[in-house]
Amino acid sequence: MENSQETEKNFKENKKIVFSAIQPSGAMTLGNYLGAIKSWNQMQDKYRCIFALADLHTITVRQNPENFRKNTLELYALLLACGIDPDKNLFFIQSHVHTHTELAWILDCYTQFGELSRMTQFKDKSKKYADNINAGLFSYPALMAADILLYNTDLVPVGEDQKQHMELTRNIAQRFNGIYGDTFTLPEAFIPKTGAKVMSLQNPSAKMSKSDTTPNSCVLLMDSPDAIMKKFKKAVTDSDSQIKFKQNEKTGINNLINIYSTVCGKSLEETENEFDGKGYGTFKIAVAEAVIGTLRPIQAKFKEYISDPGYLQEKYTQGALAALDISSSTLKKVKEKIGFIL
Ligand code: TRP
Repeated sequence: MENSQETEKNFKENKKIVFSAIQPSGAMTLGNYLGAIKSWNQMQDKYRCIFALADLHTITVRQNPENFRKNTLELYALLLACGIDPDKNLFFIQSHVHTHTELAWILDCYTQFGELSRMTQFKDKSKKYADNINAGLFSYPALMAADILLYNTDLVPVGEDQKQHMELTRNIAQRFNGIYGDTFTLPEAFIPKTGAKVMSLQNPSAKMSKSDTTPNSCVLLMDSPDAIMKKFKKAVTDSDSQIKFKQNEKTGINNLINIYSTVCGKSLEETENEFDGKGYGTFKIAVAEAVIGTLRPIQAKFKEYISDPGYLQEKYTQGALAALDISSSTLKKVKEKIGFIL
């Protein structure tokens, strides 16, 4: 089989191992794309990449079954459309690979109550979902540690909000290695340079988020060109008129400069020069057009993939089998060290 040969080649080339995952918790935003997926894409040649849909993490917040199933399949198709190559990398759905939950339970027993209590994401989500502060929400970082440690991961591209979980992952790994001898590779978090942090178009001091209920604040990857144009035209700016990036000042314009530069592969200065002397109105339309142009081929490919469930199934099954194969040997090693009868 050509596919598995290519995967095997990547594994043998001694490239550093990258692991990352994204939750299928709803529609993907322009922020998810520019902040994470685009840089995943660029890592595919340089590293041996392992990407997963972290659906087990998603059920820490109650999901409607039909929507959950739809979101997961659509996200798989959308990532393929964004250029994630399932033949070059491992690309699978977390819940298909049972070693993740198994190692997560084990790591739960090497993670302290105090450590998990200090996680800011847990504290935030406990406030947000006060009627469902379940044990999974609490031990979420141990499952994330399992995801990462199963694959001898060297590097984990994550956003700022996951850095604390990465520190905990390292602590768990170090603790385990300290007790049983070298078992886990110590992974390092890295915030990809190419990834831009995209802010809300209506409240540019907050991150763009699909759960933001303010109309026109968030661009979705599958938004129509008209919707995208409208959202950018309505983007909040300031009373000045210069298209200049000024840290901590012109947050709205900074965000638009950032989006335009990332989408067009230009530096901030190049964008500033290009729009020197032009007005905000012209600039907003240019940003919208650039985004529409970038998303057009992705949207077209998404439609192709999502209408071919047989192909999707073939790819996520192939990914899960390969992931199971690699992760099983780590799990076996762990169980042996702890003293389980194998
Ligand atoms: N917790 C991550 C998020 O919500 C998703 C995730 C799960 C992840 N497992 C991971 C990210 C392992 C990096 C590595 O963004």
